[in-house]
Amino acid sequence: MKVLVIGSGGREHVLTFKLNQSNLVSHLFAIPGNDAMVNIAEVHKEIAENDHATIVEFAVAHNIDWAIIGPEQPLTEGLTDKLQAEGIKVFGPNKIAAQIEGSKSFAKQIMERHNIPTADYQEINNKDKALTYIEQCDYPIVLKKDGLAAGKGVIIAQNYDEALEAVQAFYENGDELVVFETFLEGEEFSLMTFVNGDYAVPFDCIAQDHKRAFDDDKGPNTGGMGAYCPVPHIGEDILQQTNETIAQPIAKAMYEEGYSFFGVLYIGAIITKEGPKVIEFNARFGDPEAQVLLSRMDSDLMQHIIDLEQKRPIQFKWKDDAFVGVMLASKGYPGTYEKGERVAGFTLNGNYFVSGLTLQNDDYVTSGGRVILAVGQGENIEKAKQQAYNLVRNIESDALYYRNDISNKAIK
Ligand code: AMP
Ligand code: GLY
Repeated sequence: MKVLVIGSGGREHVLTFKLNQSNLVSHLFAIPGNDAMVNIAEVHKEIAENDHATIVEFAVAHNIDWAIIGPEQPLTEGLTDKLQAEGIKVFGPNKIAAQIEGSKSFAKQIMERHNIPTADYQEINNKDKALTYIEQCDYPIVLKKDGLAAGKGVIIAQNYDEALEAVQAFYENGDELVVFETFLEGEEFSLMTFVNGDYAVPFDCIAQDHKRAFDDDKGPNTGGMGAYCPVPHIGEDILQQTNETIAQPIAKAMYEEGYSFFGVLYIGAIITKEGPKVIEFNARFGDPEAQVLLSRMDSDLMQHIIDLEQKRPIQFKWKDDAFVGVMLASKGYPGTYEKGERVAGFTLNGNYFVSGLTLQNDDYVTSGGRVILAVGQGENIEKAKQQAYNLVRNIESDALYYRNDISNKAIK
């Protein structure tokens, strides 16, 4: 089969790495891909991720059997619909189903209609109303922009002054839709779930992300500064409860309401006193969760996608080892940062997944905020963590920073 991966980050790097190992895949393409993928896929950097017309033309001309879309943007902009219109199979939801990530309001409303556990919320589309609301609400309060925001559309306001600042920022262009949510307390985890309409199969291995920029969950929210799997201290009971109260009901709800989802649904959940509740849904694999989950996956991803399409049973197989991924990001990220900084000291053999590096002459230089994930493997989380940080220390660069506490929640 000819398979095309859309996207250029670390998640797409691990997708091509994993698909390249599948006997079912005869030829692998990546658009736009990145320079770290050239030995595992035919990379077409000349085609932009948002150039849907050229992507469709390419897929038709190359007889692509399956397109696998990594990032949220092309999904919410309807690339799936355009490829499907040409008879190409796509792993990744169509435009209306991708709203589950693209619109916080859509996600909250469908959860409310189907009693799926999540934080209570209010939608406010007007600055004056928001100003009145924050005078009488309980704190902390969570403000979420309605649209896509690359992990930066959420502000947790501890008090009125912080809420005021957030309201000024979110409504700076006039009337905007903002979701105000009750703050939930508990431990978070990420559960990837394969969904085809009313058929939903959660991974029986969960992962944990580290969203804040700095150690001890300090600093601003990012796309994700590190992840690990499995998560030994979050047990089978939580996984089962999340499946029964969230994964199955949301798939069924979307199917029944005409937003049938096909692809991987990312459930960002939090374990509260009342059980797991939804913090967010994403319409795609998490990044960097995908890098550790697909490194640990021992079964054939392409076979799973085909089985999902056919609604056949899916039996994931996982390596016994644990995997810990530590993100090296450009200093300044998620704010402003320099590009074009040299990074060396790594070889690409499944230990590193690249998000933001470009080859310039024969050197890799930075081209993004999140740059490279070092993935350690070991018989337990502690050993995998040690290996991950050894790999981090091999990296030669003055332009990057990383967290020192990735996976600590799993280590006593
Ligand atoms: P999101 O982009 O919706 O995943 O939000 C980013 C991060 O903000 C989450 O990973 C949580 O740590 C935090 N967060 C979002 N919503 C809530 C909430 N209702 N209660 C507590 N923390 C939240
Ligand atoms: N790591 C969180 C996300 O992919 O949204």
